[in-house]
Amino acid sequence: MRWPAEASWERVVALLPGFTVEILPEVDSTNTELMRRARAGRTEPTLLVAERQTAGRGRLGRGWQSAPGDSLTFSLGLPLAPQDWSGLSLAVGVAVADALHADIRLKWPNDLWVADRKLGGILIETAAVGDPAQPRFTIVGIGLNLAARPAEGLSTPPAALRELLPEVDAGEALLRMAEPLVRALQAFEQFGFAGFHARFSTRDALADRAVALSDGTTGTAHGVGEQGALLVHTAAGMVAVTSAEVSVRPA
Ligand code: BTN
Repeated sequence: MRWPAEASWERVVALLPGFTVEILPEVDSTNTELMRRARAGRTEPTLLVAERQTAGRGRLGRGWQSAPGDSLTFSLGLPLAPQDWSGLSLAVGVAVADALHADIRLKWPNDLWVADRKLGGILIETAAVGDPAQPRFTIVGIGLNLAARPAEGLSTPPAALRELLPEVDAGEALLRMAEPLVRALQAFEQFGFAGFHARFSTRDALADRAVALSDGTTGTAHGVGEQGALLVHTAAGMVAVTSAEVSVRPA
């Protein structure tokens, strides 16, 4: 497959001076690679795609498995200085979903779902560069299943983008997302989560559903607050879940 590296670059460079697009045949993890570069002082805005990841990472210390050709794995790294970081992964989810398909739902805080199956995930990491007043180098890693793959011990088999967009390959998916993703990050930097709240709500996969949190709490999800916290109505009243350490699933 030919990657639309130049076309993606052309759509973004005016928004992000110094922007580069790079396609690697193999790397441990695109997030890890951009983090290594940032620590070595290389903080120019970069879209890094890997055809194969040998140590892909997910949230909560989990791994991220993907098969070359059947998935899209990439990270966008750029300096970012929002006043408030809360809700960033939700804003990214909204941008990705809007760029791809109306039927993609968002499962708080950073999963892309189709009909209750996982289509993809978002892993955001940041690193301080220079003094604390400087923008943090922000790495937005996205993994998307393009074609169905075996459940591999998962309770539900994953979803695949081809179910929704049979004609779209990994390169086309990347091209569709690149510019909206950058625009979303820049809007988030300026205005925070507020501008994404309504769009998140229309795609909220957990809205009004019984949920169980990994800390044992159960209740009913009632959307997200102004800063992107998940609102759960529990026996003890309404709880705002913000912790990145908590996972949530429909009960
Ligand atoms: C999750 O669902 O827990 C997040 C998965 C994020 C996977 C992507 S693939 C590209 C980037 N590099 C990684 O190692 N992880 C992210």
